[in-house]
Amino acid sequence: MLEISFAKPELPKSGVLVLPLAEGAAPAGHAAALDKALDGGLARALEAAEFKGKKGSQAALLAPKGYKRVLVLGTGKPGAARMAEALGGAIAAALTRESEAAVLAEDFTPDQAAQIGFGARLRAYRFDKYRTTQKEDEKLKLRHLTILTPEPRKAEAAYKQLAAVAQGVELTRDLVSEPANTLYPAEFAERIEELKKLGLKVEVFDEDELKKLGFGSMLAVAQGSARPARMAVLQWLGAPGHEDSKKTRKPKEPLVFVGKGVTFDTGGISLKPAAGMEDMKWDMAGAGAVVGLMAALAARKAKLDVVGLVGLVENMPSGSATRPGDVVKSYSGQTIEIINTDAEGRLVLADVLHYAQSRFAPKAMIDLATLTGAIIVGLGHEYAGLFSNDDDLAAKLAAAGAAVDEKLWRMPLAAPGESYDKELASAIADVKNVGGGRAGGSITAAQFLQRFVNGKPWAHLDIAGMAWASKDSAVAPKGATGFGVRLLDRFVHDNFEA
Ligand code: BES
Ligand code: MN
Ligand code: ZN
Repeated sequence: MLEISFAKPELPKSGVLVLPLAEGAAPAGHAAALDKALDGGLARALEAAEFKGKKGSQAALLAPKGYKRVLVLGTGKPGAARMAEALGGAIAAALTRESEAAVLAEDFTPDQAAQIGFGARLRAYRFDKYRTTQKEDEKLKLRHLTILTPEPRKAEAAYKQLAAVAQGVELTRDLVSEPANTLYPAEFAERIEELKKLGLKVEVFDEDELKKLGFGSMLAVAQGSARPARMAVLQWLGAPGHEDSKKTRKPKEPLVFVGKGVTFDTGGISLKPAAGMEDMKWDMAGAGAVVGLMAALAARKAKLDVVGLVGLVENMPSGSATRPGDVVKSYSGQTIEIINTDAEGRLVLADVLHYAQSRFAPKAMIDLATLTGAIIVGLGHEYAGLFSNDDDLAAKLAAAGAAVDEKLWRMPLAAPGESYDKELASAIADVKNVGGGRAGGSITAAQFLQRFVNGKPWAHLDIAGMAWASKDSAVAPKGATGFGVRLLDRFVHDNFEA
């Protein structure tokens, strides 16, 4: 993990120094002093490199005076959103081969100085536990960034909050990156139990207990697998004024987050084609985000009650697998005709959503799921789909997404019994698990979920296009993105902790 520290601006005499420079700005303060010490060498280098400060642009001076390297990074037009965070990401991307560096951030606010550290840490993430032959010169060496800022104490305090979120994002990325032979439902549940050390209350339900509860829909997905299902319930009881009863009390009108945790999705008897099936190891990214979010909220001691629930199953074809046409009874009592065993995420969520609502009476409930390929057809890899029965909740989520650049696009949701919802009529049961055809596949999936929700504020985020990236972005290397953690942390912070 990349260590971040803060200190007063002072020109280091050696090592690696990073100078951020905005469009149209000239080196000032300590950067101007550096130029002087280099007899105008900094200005000459910027001139030679035709450096204009454009976002993402760079100019490097190799071994000037006592330094190893001075790297000038363009931060673009002054005042752009998330500039400091993107700068941090650019620093981590540019300095993979250095073990440490100092960043001259004297014109930055303490919050921005903290955001530089946050962006750098997120971008410096690696999942390399299974690489045994990586060459020395391919490894990420960056271990420590010192950010030079006029108010290091304030920056440090701001960074502490962001580091809690970063730790949650990293946990989500670790879970999502893990292959399905090492991360199966029972192992996922064990990783969740480890979070007790953060002060989270954790309950794990095994297959017998789920059977007793009547989770016929979720267990229909799990029954083809040799790996038994689990459900985990995580509680963070941080509402102020109840500190002494924290161990025993029940959450009061909590926010509830629910995640789809299909540790591998073969499609079951409705088997998926071979090409790209390995991607289905990350079909638990919704659950991964819920767990990372709960870890973040606990680590920063968020001042509210929040509950996270994840349904953990593996969807396999076998002699014991659910067949197309099977009818099962869900926890809600509704019967479901399973037309397509590859529409399994909704079967998991049906039971967990209904359980969450009946047990916790949440003021709002939000689920995250890599639910449909159709959402990728519709929105690509720019926006996750947002479905909600509540305009206010939808607006708050969209605003939080815009603020952290985990964007949401609202999609239609019909009232029960109307338009899209009619597609789910079954000839034999209360509902079937897919619509009539492929048309509007993400919407009919959301309509199915809504059948298991009691009309209280609820939102569903279809993150199938966002959980995994095939290329690097500003603050995430390619691979598991951790999508949802920052978004929901922001949503919680902006709307429920004021
Ligand atoms: N896990 C998939 C959705 C998915 C696809 C996630 C691609 C990430 C990338 C989901 O369980 C699924 O298989 N959905 C089907 C639904 C269909 C059978 C109605 C789909 O999208 O094809
Ligand atoms: Mn599927
Ligand atoms: Zn799936």
